[in-house]
This record gives sequence, C-alpha cells and structure tokens, in this order.
Amino acid sequence: METVIARITSDQSENNRIYEQASEVLRNGGLVAFPTETVYGLGANALDAKAASKIYQAKGRPSDNPLIVHIADMQDLFRLASEVSGQALKLAEAFWPGPLTMILKKNAAVPETTTGGLDTVAVRMPSHQAAERLIRTSGIYIAAPSANLSGKPSPTKASHVISDMAGRIDMIIADDTVEIGLESTIVDMSGQVPAILRPGFITQQQLSQVLGEVAVDPAVTQEMGAAAVPRAPGMKYKHYAPEAELVIVQGQEQAVVDRINQMAEEKMAAGAKVGVLAAEETCGCYKADVVKALGKRADEAAAAKNLFAALREFDSCGVDYIYSEPFPTDNVGQAVMNRLIKAAGHTIVDAGIGEKA
Ligand code: TXA
Ligand code: MG
Repeated sequence: METVIARITSDQSENNRIYEQASEVLRNGGLVAFPTETVYGLGANALDAKAASKIYQAKGRPSDNPLIVHIADMQDLFRLASEVSGQALKLAEAFWPGPLTMILKKNAAVPETTTGGLDTVAVRMPSHQAAERLIRTSGIYIAAPSANLSGKPSPTKASHVISDMAGRIDMIIADDTVEIGLESTIVDMSGQVPAILRPGFITQQQLSQVLGEVAVDPAVTQEMGAAAVPRAPGMKYKHYAPEAELVIVQGQEQAVVDRINQMAEEKMAAGAKVGVLAAEETCGCYKADVVKALGKRADEAAAAKNLFAALREFDSCGVDYIYSEPFPTDNVGQAVMNRLIKAAGHTIVDAGIGEKA
C-alpha cells in the first residue's frame, strides 16, 4: 500500500486540503495517523468494526487490546457511553480537551472490535489542533491507539510514524508539535471508585482534587515486584521497548554513575555497543558508545517529552545495551518511570549508596 505523507505547514489552504483528504480516507474505512498533544495516534472510524480491525492488523496489535475513541464535543460522550456519572462529567469538564482518557460503560453503537471485546469504552477529547480538526472535518469518532508497531515506543515525531507505518496505512499527517510525549492518563470511571489504569501527564493528585478518592490499579503500583493482571489490557504487554536490552540502575547518584560505567566497560570490552540514558547534569560522567540526556534532572516534562525519541535513537545507533539512571517522580515523572520500567521489562539493578559512604 502506498502511504500518503502530508505535512502541515503555514499554507492554510493546503492544510484544509490535507484535512479534507484525510477525512475522506477515514469515512471510507481507511487508516490515518495524526498528531495529538500526547503521542501520534493511528486513526480509523470507531463505529465501523471493519475499519477498526485494520488498526490491529497494521500495528500487529493483539485483538484483546482495546482502542481509545477520540471526540471533539462533550455531547459525543453520551453517544459512546451508556452511563456517564456526575463524577465522570466533572472530570471531563476539568481536563478536556486534554491528555485524559476515561473508561465508561459502552453504548451498543460501539463495536466490540473497537473495545477489544469489553463492555466498556475508552474516550478522550484531545486538545491538539490537528486531532480536533480531523475529528470535526471527518464528522466521525476516531478510534486511535498510538501509531507505533505493537511493542515499540509510542511515536512522538512524524519520522517515528513513517518508519513504523509507511506502506501499512493510507495516510500520515506530519506535524511535529507533539507536546507531552507520553500517552494519556487512563482513569476507569465504570466502577464504584475511580481508578488510574495508566499514569500520564495528569497526576493522581490533580485527579483527586476533582474526584476525591482515586484508586490506582495494583498493576501500576506493583510494577517493581510481581505483576498483577492490569485492567487496561494494553498494560500487560511488553511495551515501549527498544531493541536493545535496557537496565535501570538506581541508588545514590555517584554509586549509579560508577555502576553504570562498570557495566558499560564490561560490555564494551566484550565487543558490545552500549548506550547510557541520563540527566543533563550527569551525562558527562559516562564512558559509553552513545550517551543521551533527557534534560535537566528536575525537568520532568522534558523527560516525558524526550524519553520515547531517545529509546528509538538508541535503536538507530544499533546499541546492544542501554543503562539508564532513574528519573524523579514528583509529577509527570511518575509516568516517565512507569514507561521506563516497562521498557526495561522490570530489570532494575540497585547500586546502593556506593563504596565511599
Ligand atoms: O494519549 C493517548 O492515549 C494516545 C493518543 C493517540 O490518544 N493513545 C494511546 O493509545 O496511546 P494506546 O496505544 O495506549 O492504546 C489504548 C490503551 C491501551 O492500554 C488499552 O488497553 C487501554 O487504552 N484501553 C482502551 N479501552 C479500554 C477499556 N475499555 N478498558 C481498559 N483499558 C482500555
Ligand atoms: Mg500504544
């Protein structure tokens, strides 16, 4: 299949033409990748089971891993969900449009292909202009998981989408204005107590300010230990993973630096290529083939924005091992570490407090 790659520029009449063309593709049951404020999405008509099934094919995604339905107006929520509680409405009013996905009991109109066989539906109203325009111009609800091949890091740049999806989908809207860099926070509003199924830019603390009690799915909190079965099916798969073997090294700062340098040296002596993922402050301390900084250590938003691109860049450099520092978890950093730990397949080495202490 030939994939049309259309770039958004300052030429507004050309942009209009691009959204018209993409809308036509979606209305005809085709696939269009488009930017959102979190990551790129791979879109299809959410109410057309055949169109939605093409998403699973193009990504190589397991059919029990449901899609998120993207909307542009609050009324759309009532067309997709059979029950919208007062709490759910409050949450939508507080954070939509924005990086929040709500799980609600689904309406009969939503095919099970879109919901991975579940009786609930995931709904999100994105704030990115390209996403909003595509939903409005096409006049449909757009089912869209992240636009990566299944298992790979989510795409935050058009080049990532092109390398994963060219030849597999009808069209890519290229516009490198993805702001956040990590997928939306998912909150299950279908049960008694709201529960976070996936951490994201909107934190538990922000959610509690609106909702009061908010639970966190044990699969999110127990990720350092034995895994519980997550309620967001997508969270059970090996995910966000680069091809290289990724290990997180935690402990006191100097101990981490020493341990990473020691492991890197051993691997390089054995002929392997090694990458290190660090904060700007310490990236000069490492001896490895490729060293990448995500930003200043305290800048959690920069870490979120740069993490997936960095993992992909390590792959392009052909590194065999990646050793990563841990990153702070006060705000969106929680979601950063959630993705990093998954990408590492839970491999965490403790460097302790070091020899001098
Ligand atoms: O920011 C985002 O969420 C991006 C953009 C494109 O909107 N979307 C995204 O979708 O990253 P992705 O690839 O994460 O797939 C949807 C996630 C999966 O983890 C899936 O298991 C979960 O949402 N999900 C969807 N419907 C669900 C449901 N009914 N119950 C529980 N989890 C659900
Ligand atoms: Mg995904």
